[in-house]
Amino acid sequence: MKLFEPIRINSMVLENRIVLPAMVTRLSGEDGYVNKDIRDRYLRFAKGEVGLIVLEAMAVHTAKSGPLLRICDDQFKPGLAELARMIHDTSPSKVVPQIIHFLKISRSGWRQKISDLSIEEIKQIVINYADAAMRAQDCGFDGVELHMAHAYTLSSFLSAKNARNDAYGRTLENRMRLMSEVIVAVRKRVGASFPVGVRFDGEECIKGGYTLKDSQKIALRMAQLGVDYISISAGGKFEDAIPKPGEPLYPYTGYSGDRCMPSADYPDGANVYLAEGIKQYINSNGYYTPVIATGKISTPELAEQILESGRSDLIGMARALLADPDWPKKVREGRWGNVIRCIYCNVCKSLDENFRRVTCTLWPKGSLQAPYSDDKIAPTWSKQDPLGVQLYTGCTRLVWSEAKDNEGVYGYDIFRSENGGPYFRLTAVKRLGYWDTEVVGGNTYSYYVQAYDFAGNRSEPSNKVEVTIPFPV
Ligand SMILES: Cc1cc2nc3c(=O)[nH]c(=O)nc-3n(C[C@H](O)[C@H](O)[C@H](O)COP(=O)(O)O)c2cc1C
Repeated sequence: MKLFEPIRINSMVLENRIVLPAMVTRLSGEDGYVNKDIRDRYLRFAKGEVGLIVLEAMAVHTAKSGPLLRICDDQFKPGLAELARMIHDTSPSKVVPQIIHFLKISRSGWRQKISDLSIEEIKQIVINYADAAMRAQDCGFDGVELHMAHAYTLSSFLSAKNARNDAYGRTLENRMRLMSEVIVAVRKRVGASFPVGVRFDGEECIKGGYTLKDSQKIALRMAQLGVDYISISAGGKFEDAIPKPGEPLYPYTGYSGDRCMPSADYPDGANVYLAEGIKQYINSNGYYTPVIATGKISTPELAEQILESGRSDLIGMARALLADPDWPKKVREGRWGNVIRCIYCNVCKSLDENFRRVTCTLWPKGSLQAPYSDDKIAPTWSKQDPLGVQLYTGCTRLVWSEAKDNEGVYGYDIFRSENGGPYFRLTAVKRLGYWDTEVVGGNTYSYYVQAYDFAGNRSEPSNKVEVTIPFPV
């Protein structure tokens, strides 16, 4: 599989094309130091053989925030260096920190805007990024990723909503000025061979925001300035965020937030078109900087098809790897059937929003990390024909009797076919029933369920049940 072909990014060689994009864990304290929970979280990804681990956004400056890692001072270096070393000792996974600058925001609803910044403050941002990148290099990381996506400072300069009236605003060239200054300053500090990646929005997904038309040109400039990879995200802006009284504005609550972390309601690979459009454009201009596509990519088939068709060079999977950090290892070993599959319910996102420690709803209750098991024994059904279905107005109700397992049943995958077509996995649940509210009149649906354990061993499929939904009129 192309997914497991190594790829060189400047001086680092990734074992495979699977990238863990940055995902804030809220596992650190407000002090910003690496702690045991953080180490455990990332060692789990290394053990699972993720090609490139991008550590959650860490601040290049001292501004106040909730729980967030920091790389704004040398005092944070020992903890970060230890984390880098432990990841390297665990597996061939490569690891880079994502470094971020953000503006002030308060619970009163006030937030600092880029138009409030003086030229001196802008120059300081450039210095902060260069210093932080240098620290990343000192700590033994394999590279560094510059956060230029979502609602944060560099993204706000790139934004079509940039309201500055000087050399940092108005035109696309001016909007790219700070980004360019940061890339040049970082490169100067870390040298030619240290991998420097960038993450930015392929589309802002807000009214009046930029689209692929601008992001292609921004990416080309990044490539011309010598960045080593370009990771494409989308949305996540303050402009359409939904205010909550007494809470700081969270930039993933509006439509652009949905586009950043597409939920179960979105089609798979929802944002791949952005990576594709950017890759096509920079390639046609003679630049082959690797491009990372992210956004609801969770199956090996889809990942492989994206790579094979040349729509991106690498595959980012955030929530799918949170649900099962062993995804790469299992798929490499031909055990896709053992992967615990993300249901894109976005509980992780709401934990982040509320400054609570980010976990996955599929994990056993109270766990801070994904469970690990080498067990080989699959669950079995406790009775024959365990599954039944009932028809209600506008929905169906599936109910089944429990499965048994030597180490405990972890959850149940639900599969559905429509009008005799192939079965698709609908979702997974932990309990013994499911309301399917997405059925529509005039169609026949068939279902089965499969129990899985902590190692991802699946039971035999249950009996199949079928139901025809009458037209409502
Ligand atoms: C809890 C959580 C925290 C995130 N934190 C970051 C972050 O620190 N930096 C970043 O660039 N993206 C962040 N993201 C966005 C993800 O990197 C990713 O782009 C998004 O989840 C879509 O990818 P997926 O469908 O594979 O999950 C976060 C997403 C989640 C769910």
